[in-house]
Amino acid sequence: MGKIELIKGDITQLEVDAIVNAANSTLRGGGGVDGAIHRAAGPKLLEECLQITEKIGYCPTGEAVITGAGNLKCKYVIHTVGPIWKGGSYGEEFLLRISYINSLKLAKEYSLKVIAFPNISTGAYGFPKKLACEIAVSAVKEFLLQNPEIERVIFVCYDQENYEIYQKYLTNE
Ligand code: APR
Repeated sequence: MGKIELIKGDITQLEVDAIVNAANSTLRGGGGVDGAIHRAAGPKLLEECLQITEKIGYCPTGEAVITGAGNLKCKYVIHTVGPIWKGGSYGEEFLLRISYINSLKLAKEYSLKVIAFPNISTGAYGFPKKLACEIAVSAVKEFLLQNPEIERVIFVCYDQENYEIYQKYLTNE
């Protein structure tokens, strides 16, 4: 089974096959990690995103699309739209889970081996961080068990709170 790793840092600096972007349905960029990725990648990334939305209109919550990486060190960017937390009774847990699964399915489709995730939905979208961590880790573990072609998944925590939550959860597993 592929390895799960945890690092604290800026996902835009990683030299991996793909980094995952916590996007919004318009795929036009935004703040947080979305803003950081678009800034580091340059305008080409937005161009590619707009070509996609011209075809599909918008990216539904839980779905994922893939683009090149512009000026980033990685090869691809997988854009997924996590759920906005509305209290937990609107399928948010399921939607967060499939955001991870659909991102990994795309990585597999493109024969990618090393993928890095930010803590999707835990910033502007307000998803409780510990619950998001449990969902993310279990979704990734389940996918890795069934898809040994994926060699490594890196959880990239930018803020200390997420990092400590992941550190605790991954060591106590
Ligand atoms: N590298 C890694 N993680 C980062 C970075 C970075 N450079 N910058 C921010 N993060 C982390 C945040 O600390 C947070 O833990 O990404 C996580 C997700 O937070 P957001 O970026 O706010 O994403 P999300 O909560 O999914 O909200 C998405 O915000 O930026 C807009 O366009 C985006 O509308 C969408 C919404």
